[in-house]
Amino acid sequence: MADIEHFLDRNRAWAAGQVEKDPGGFQALAEGQQPEMLWIGCSDSRVSPNQMMDLSLGEVFVHRNIANQVVTSDPNCMSVVQYAVEVLEVTHIVVCGHYGCGGVIASFDPPGQDTIQLWLDHIRRVSRRYQDELADLEEEARIRRLCEVNVVEQVRNLADTDILQAAWQAGGGPTLHGLIYGLHDGRLRRLCHQTGTGDLILDPPTSPGL
Ligand code: CO
Repeated sequence: MADIEHFLDRNRAWAAGQVEKDPGGFQALAEGQQPEMLWIGCSDSRVSPNQMMDLSLGEVFVHRNIANQVVTSDPNCMSVVQYAVEVLEVTHIVVCGHYGCGGVIASFDPPGQDTIQLWLDHIRRVSRRYQDELADLEEEARIRRLCEVNVVEQVRNLADTDILQAAWQAGGGPTLHGLIYGLHDGRLRRLCHQTGTGDLILDPPTSPGL
């Protein structure tokens, strides 16, 4: 097991490398941020937005939780969304799921009263909404499909918030995108999008290449 010094050493080496590449970089970042994107993704250690989109510090505002859920009663997620929309005025909000999501897989377990199980109840509600379609699939395909439709439903939840509705009605507001990431190939694919108060648009299906 790595000790904390290992991580602090890595940080020192990284910071020194950054200064070498761009001596004024940290000073510029310290003055403020102007990211164009809010990313709402899964906490999974393999799904890091800066690395996956090859972005630098300052380019993406981030909220992550188990199974990339947008729960309107969650003050953590909602305050991130409000700040991104009203203060940062981001032009894109991404909700990104990923195939093989442990949270989505665990939602097939029987419900329980502990914190994680209660959190997964939100995915169980998505499952029920798509139960006819999911019931016809083999287990692996069912998990993949639930990973996908979970993203679509979280984008719907986001679009329904007062924060987005108010921003769109005022004539601004970001475009929402539902993406899914393949752990197996490093690729992001778009599942749906919504611009303004119109309907959510499903994108043509692309092969997950599994
Ligand atoms: Co996950």
